[in-house]
Amino acid sequence: MRIRKLGWTDLNLSTIGLGTWAIGGGKWKFSWGPQDDRESISTIRRALELGINWIDTAAVYGLGHSEEIVGKAIRGLRDRPIIATKCERVWDKDGNIFGRLKKESIRSEVEASLKRLKIEVIDLYQIHWPEPDKDIEEAWTTLGNLIKEGKIRYAGVSNFNIEQLKRVQPIHPVASLQPPYSMLERGIEDKTLQYCSENNIGVIVYSPMQKGLLTGKFTRERVRNLPEDDHRRRDPRFQEPELSANLKLVEDLRSIAEKGGRTLAQLAIAWVLRRPEVTAAIVGARRTSQIEETVVAGDWVLSKEDIAVIKTLLDRRQKAS
Ligand SMILES: NC(=O)c1ccc[n+]([C@@H]2O[C@H](COP(=O)([O-])OP(=O)(O)OC[C@H]3O[C@@H](n4cnc5c(N)ncnc54)[C@H](OP(=O)(O)O)[C@@H]3O)[C@@H](O)[C@H]2O)c1
Repeated sequence: MRIRKLGWTDLNLSTIGLGTWAIGGGKWKFSWGPQDDRESISTIRRALELGINWIDTAAVYGLGHSEEIVGKAIRGLRDRPIIATKCERVWDKDGNIFGRLKKESIRSEVEASLKRLKIEVIDLYQIHWPEPDKDIEEAWTTLGNLIKEGKIRYAGVSNFNIEQLKRVQPIHPVASLQPPYSMLERGIEDKTLQYCSENNIGVIVYSPMQKGLLTGKFTRERVRNLPEDDHRRRDPRFQEPELSANLKLVEDLRSIAEKGGRTLAQLAIAWVLRRPEVTAAIVGARRTSQIEETVVAGDWVLSKEDIAVIKTLLDRRQKAS
């Protein structure tokens, strides 16, 4: 497994990090359907055995449940993995989710996350969404103070645009940005990656397999049969007219993966890692077999020829939408 340094920090991350959103379990607004906690714990432990050295979670995943499961999975391990979690998405007793960036809110969130994860310090604490936008400076100042107090080691942001990064940078340097990036979500390619590289900000990209859509294991029937509480039922990329165009792209990509004896899931991940500005990909998994398949993508360097063919296919897909 390749290791890359996260921006200016001293965190050395495996190029694949384990994403634990789906592990938050069912029955909340952005759930991925039912999930067995024992299976989640096995998946996390297997990922670590396979050389993944960091885990991404968030307070809101499963309304605290993902952090609790991560806490259970890492308990008693001799080498604790690097833990990245997030603040800002808070919820009420009915499960309604809000964005809060006020100092008091973040201070109580960090205590709750430390407790659920059962750790003394969070290695990378990230603002999940810049919402409300007017409070990002207050939140960022608070994260700076939490570093001084030893509650967190580094502070990062997620889903920020360049303007928002520029607003918080002077308060204290941003360790990392967590943006979406996949063959179907290429918004960061134009300017954001360059900005991060110039400012030595690490980039850890999320949903590299576009929530499983790029793995080749989705069909129209599978989408129709997703559990009621799987939020992907409401995701436009899993609905017509986008779904047909996305499934066609996946079929067009299949031969590129298979000629090298690889899978589509591995291709999707290797493709985001081709960019040197990307520190690592956050790869979601809810079963051991999934991470066993995807982990090897961390070592796959795509050829120039394959990258060029994929570019043609993606440009064609973009025109179809
Ligand atoms: N900061 C943010 O706003 C934000 C947003 C999204 C995600 N994230 C982070 O990024 C992580 C990864 O993103 P993601 O989970 O949205 O998407 P992803 O990594 O693109 O896809 C993960 C999903 O794909 C399916 N899958 C995984 N391995 C597979 C395999 N080998 N074969 C077939 N299907 C496979 C699984 O779902 P099924 O088995 O159910 O199909 C899995 O839950 C998250 O877990 C989270 O930590 C952050």
